[in-house]
Amino acid sequence: MDFNLTEEHIMIRDAARDFAQNELLPGVIERDEKQQFPAEQVKKMGELGFLGMMVDPKYGGSGLDTISYVLAMEEISKIDASTSVVMSVNNSLVCWGLETFGTEEQKQKYLVPLAKGEIIGAFCLSEPEAGSDATSQRTTAIDKGDHYLINGTKNWITNGGTASVYLVVAQTHVEKGHHGINVFIVEKGMDGFVVGNKENKLGIRGSDTHSLMFTDVKVPKENRIGEDGFGFSFAMKTLAGGRIGIASQALGIASGAYELALQYSKERKAFGKEISRHQAIAFKLADMATEIEAARFLCLKAAWDKDQHKNYDLSGAMAKLYAAETAMKVTVEAVQIHGGYGFVKEYHVERLMRDAKITQIYEGTSEIQKIVISRSILRD
Ligand code: CAA
Repeated sequence: MDFNLTEEHIMIRDAARDFAQNELLPGVIERDEKQQFPAEQVKKMGELGFLGMMVDPKYGGSGLDTISYVLAMEEISKIDASTSVVMSVNNSLVCWGLETFGTEEQKQKYLVPLAKGEIIGAFCLSEPEAGSDATSQRTTAIDKGDHYLINGTKNWITNGGTASVYLVVAQTHVEKGHHGINVFIVEKGMDGFVVGNKENKLGIRGSDTHSLMFTDVKVPKENRIGEDGFGFSFAMKTLAGGRIGIASQALGIASGAYELALQYSKERKAFGKEISRHQAIAFKLADMATEIEAARFLCLKAAWDKDQHKNYDLSGAMAKLYAAETAMKVTVEAVQIHGGYGFVKEYHVERLMRDAKITQIYEGTSEIQKIVISRSILRD
């Protein structure tokens, strides 16, 4: 077993770190406050190859492995989780599914510009009454011969306003339950497709989250992904990989908050010495560092499983569960270590604490990860 990163991995991690420091850190507080989408920054990420990291270069991607993706996600999330969620959704939930299951025509038309970051994508599964219970899709897609007519509403869609391409999950044969679900590529601007208001969120406020409304949206048959009825399986397989991305996001939020707390604790003096030299703080730092390291190993193990073409449902869910819980715990402690300064915007940790919360909710709540994990270990 070799715990060393390759030279290429180190290069990618450092490139992501530089990008985060130079391009994301300036303005991150203002973007959060104003709920401003990081449009310029996302454009640069595309130019640097961060939006199609694992896509084959013949489809405009960077052709890297999942370990590289985890390393880059951690670095970018340390500074700006609003930007890293754009990256995660585009890479894991949109590009991966299109590359793995799309037709050659779908890849040429949609994957290439998505992987190059010329446009961004959104993954539309959640509905007002179907979040965790993903099989209960109410959005319908009725087969009309050469096209489908889509009707329904999607909620909490990341990149909802800024995306150009949407992978929309819909029920085609109600009587077949989840075996009657399909996924369609829907373009912004198609008649009957309306983007609802932007959500005013607790965290990841720079990211662009909307509900979407579909009224008799006519989608050509060639925009269905996979065989008829493949949609639920597509969504589950896609989310399994997406969980590695969000686990790495949570890891980055935790390690970003920890690094700030460590630095602060070495500078701030109380009762005659640096607060890091008080055991009450030193023990907090020890717990934070240990939990972050464990989360990092889980993320890298899940990425390695995926790169080795092993099943990563279990390792991805474990990474997502543990990293998200760690992000929440560590960011709360980072605020505590900062005392009053932790409660104000300039010190970043309050934002990281707010951002951490969503990692316990999206791409499957912590409770959903426990369902996936327990089913897997009880089946074995
Ligand atoms: N790969 C392939 N197929 C899978 C699968 C996987 N990882 N997991 C389940 N399936 C298949 C099952 O084999 C089954 O198929 P068959 O009936 O043919 O055997 C089918 O899916 C249904 O499985 P279950 O009976 O286990 O389904 P369930 O209703 O009990 O739910 C669940 C399973 C894991 C809880 C699932 O519903 C789930 O993952 N829910 C959470 C959904 C989610 O993550 N929502 C977040 C929205 S996306 C988002 O947040 C994006 C964003 O903006 C950042």
